[in-house]
Amino acid sequence: MKSCKIHIIILLLLVAIVSCNRNVDTMVQSPDGRIKVCLQPDEDGKVALCVSRDDSAVVAISNIGMKVRESVPLDSGFHLVDVSFASCDSVWMQPWGENKEIQEHYNALFAKMSNGMVDMFMEIKVFDDGFGFRYRYDLKGHDNLTLLDELTRFDFAHDGDCWSIPANFESYEFLYRHQPLSQTVDANTPVTMRFDNGLYCSVHEANLRNFAEMTLRQVDSLSFQSWLSPDNTGSGSVCMMDAGFTSWRTILLGDNAVDLINSSLLLNLNEAPEKDVAFDGIRPMKYIGIWWGMHLGINSWTPDARHGATTANAIKYIDFAAANNVDAVLFEGWNQGWEQWGGSQVFNFTQAAPDMDIDSVIAYAHRKGVEVIIHHETGGNIPNYESQFDSALSWCRVRGIQAIKTGYAGGFPDRQLHHSQYGITHYNKVMQEALQAGVMLDVHEPIKPTGLRRTYPNLMTGEGVRGMEWNAWSDGNPPSHQVTLPFTRMLAGPLDYTPGIFDITYRLLESHPEARKWNQKDSRECRVHTTIAKQCALWVILYSPMVMAADLIENYEGHPMFQFFSDYDPDCDWSRALNGEPGEYVSVVRRAGDVFFLGAATNEEARIVNVKLDFLEPETEYEALVYGDAQDAHYDTNPMAYSIRRATVHKGQVLQLRLAPGGGAAVRMVER
Ligand code: NOJ
Ligand code: CA
Repeated sequence: MKSCKIHIIILLLLVAIVSCNRNVDTMVQSPDGRIKVCLQPDEDGKVALCVSRDDSAVVAISNIGMKVRESVPLDSGFHLVDVSFASCDSVWMQPWGENKEIQEHYNALFAKMSNGMVDMFMEIKVFDDGFGFRYRYDLKGHDNLTLLDELTRFDFAHDGDCWSIPANFESYEFLYRHQPLSQTVDANTPVTMRFDNGLYCSVHEANLRNFAEMTLRQVDSLSFQSWLSPDNTGSGSVCMMDAGFTSWRTILLGDNAVDLINSSLLLNLNEAPEKDVAFDGIRPMKYIGIWWGMHLGINSWTPDARHGATTANAIKYIDFAAANNVDAVLFEGWNQGWEQWGGSQVFNFTQAAPDMDIDSVIAYAHRKGVEVIIHHETGGNIPNYESQFDSALSWCRVRGIQAIKTGYAGGFPDRQLHHSQYGITHYNKVMQEALQAGVMLDVHEPIKPTGLRRTYPNLMTGEGVRGMEWNAWSDGNPPSHQVTLPFTRMLAGPLDYTPGIFDITYRLLESHPEARKWNQKDSRECRVHTTIAKQCALWVILYSPMVMAADLIENYEGHPMFQFFSDYDPDCDWSRALNGEPGEYVSVVRRAGDVFFLGAATNEEARIVNVKLDFLEPETEYEALVYGDAQDAHYDTNPMAYSIRRATVHKGQVLQLRLAPGGGAAVRMVER
């Protein structure tokens, strides 16, 4: 029965492609001509897009529109009023990013449609690596409409592999499910697919503002409907309809899995920053922090006997940063309010804990050339945070603080959801106000990135993932997790996964029995599922312009593998994902100035990854320093075994990297 339905869908798609090819007036294609998107209101005036690549059906997007409580039709009865086309082929620069130079090359179609009661405006932009569409309404006086649902449907032409996390409106901190698309009942985006014909695809959204997040809900085997985060009324409503555009609904397409990673489509569907935006002080940086000790239970956020963010400890971290070429230090638990953690969640963002002399610590850090990252855990108490935000920003400005790590670990008030319009409006407000103050952000428990970092370049990084912290207090993340992320979550934007745990089996806990009590766990089961070389590789692979070496500094002191982080430059100019498959392995290279950094990592399987060094400068010899797995390394049985070797390499050569099960390699290549 299912396969019969699939055949019918494919047939319909084929019919649509044929008629689309005839209907050139509403067809727009990618600059290389491979992707065609055709706009087609059907006989009921429902708006649809039919998408093909190399003349083979990919997806039909139908029923585009909204359902509102009032009897105003926002999904049917439309006829075309006006169609126009545009093209763009330009290059723009960003202050930081995987690539500083971005090519923006697309063809666009703009359409106006009307059903007599309202007008609908559709924009479609088609790039060589995918497309996006968005729409808005002129409600023509039908104001105060309550949005109940988006009706837009995605009918994929093929089944295949799908990597997704569940559609959840409070969190993204899940392991990825790898299952057939036809068995995926719901998904948050980015959701990644490898269709049975070998084509790779990822669905997401770009430029999400002042609206509710889109997830996908299966309505039939290969058919999914947009499913928006509800508001807090419990009545099934999403928000009030306004006349603004939806976010861009985006579809990346690639012959290889790494094509998805190498795309800039999401950034290109966001706006350039305002002209008066000052980038001074907005710059990538490496950081360490008083952080992991709390997750292990060795330290606490509250000012008790185990307090982590004391003046003395802060000074130790600053000294370590200064001595090891680390730009910044994060202090969690520096402020007042942690006693309420999990209760009323009333944090104070300008008052330090009694045993933390924050002013002296900041002044000391600055004398040492080290930046301080100030932590703002809100606990989800948005009204409390918003009421203090101005003063908290001034507090930072006066002290020369350039970066804040925010956190939203806790429910929002009045049953508001993290990913609802309420949440998104808050996250965007913080981002905009912090930009005015020239303050960078690392957002934990965030809304998923949608490329807004182009417009707000202070939005450096964020979590929105089941990150390292889960290894401290759960069964942890399997080795396949970190090689799934580049093909899924990271297609959305930078990721503060917080890699770099060197004490993989938590040997330090042996001298901290009280920590085990705090965590209520057996430390033998709790650990990081990795080799040490893979932790170094993740600094390169899991791109974050604010990148953390997450372990306690005592685990780095004198460790030869830490040299890679000391030498690492997060301010890269150019990046390329070289090879890989979701959940299996990946290798990525980045260039910062003249220096190349390469990271390769694998899942539970050992493998040899061959990297063709065709990105190096011609006629130049490089010294490669390879921080890799030892011959007998294994994430489970021998995770700390590493080898550091030097080699002379040049353009065109193939660098062979042997990765242990759950292992990896990090390579620095410098001109000789
Ligand atoms: C969750 C964040 O992800 C983590 O980094 C932070 O340490 C805790 N919340 C406490 O704020
Ligand atoms: Ca978190």
